[in-house]
Amino acid sequence: MMFFKRKNIDNSIDMSNLPEHIGVIMDGNGRWAKKRGLPRSAGHKAGAESLKKIVTEANNMGIKYITVYAFSTENWKRPKAEVDYLMNLLMDYLINAEKTLAGENVRIRAIGSRAELSDEMCRQIEKTEKLTADRSGIVMNIALNYGGREELVNATRSLCRAVADGKLAPEDITEEKIEGELYTANQPDVDLLIRTSGEQRLSNFMLWQVSYAEMIFVKKAWPDFKPRDLHECIRIYQGRGRRFGGI
Ligand code: IPE
Ligand code: IPE
Ligand code: MG
Repeated sequence: MMFFKRKNIDNSIDMSNLPEHIGVIMDGNGRWAKKRGLPRSAGHKAGAESLKKIVTEANNMGIKYITVYAFSTENWKRPKAEVDYLMNLLMDYLINAEKTLAGENVRIRAIGSRAELSDEMCRQIEKTEKLTADRSGIVMNIALNYGGREELVNATRSLCRAVADGKLAPEDITEEKIEGELYTANQPDVDLLIRTSGEQRLSNFMLWQVSYAEMIFVKKAWPDFKPRDLHECIRIYQGRGRRFGGI
């Protein structure tokens, strides 16, 4: 068994049993701000800082994939001012990614539907993806205008098209074929799902990929979630008995 030598990482974490893919529903920014008498936007700003720290830490620990829920297909229902603020924040995040994650070796990808995003945002996503494509560290999927159902509808359409074109027989549709059509094609399933803020629901996040994920619901709001909380989640994860239907 290998243990961390770094002082700030608790040596009770088993390095040989890290989750390969962590999903994070970064929730509670608004309530965090409200509690402090601040506008919701201040919570989102603090949340973005939290994200930088957590991704850096996950990468340092040797986690291979992290998917963070930044904006859902349902979040358009929010007031326009909040939506605009979130989009600007995400834009800044992408622009600064080179600087803020410099030397961190993070490979950034955006998952979700691009159709509703501004041209400017789409261009920036492509730029950041290209810029970080050859990084060898953690793969960070930013779920931006992401919905698990939308993802499955897309996958279904794509396979149906192949069937209609006579390129695929219905009998040949397998789990692997469906997986191949997801935004996370070629990535492992989510092993550990963390949701902050005390809510215990998926809110349309990675419906397919979390089938056997261990779920951890943390009471803290996302801006309060610290690297040591990530360590704690991983410790809890390592204490769980994953059976995948076996005994
Ligand atoms: C999560 O925080 C961030 C996004 C959904 C974009 P919320 O904005 O949902 O914060 P709460 O849940 O209202 O406190
Ligand atoms: C889920 O949080 C979406 C993100 C974290 C981006 P929400 O705050 O939108 O989810 P609900 O509305 O509480 O289910
Ligand atoms: Mg919320």
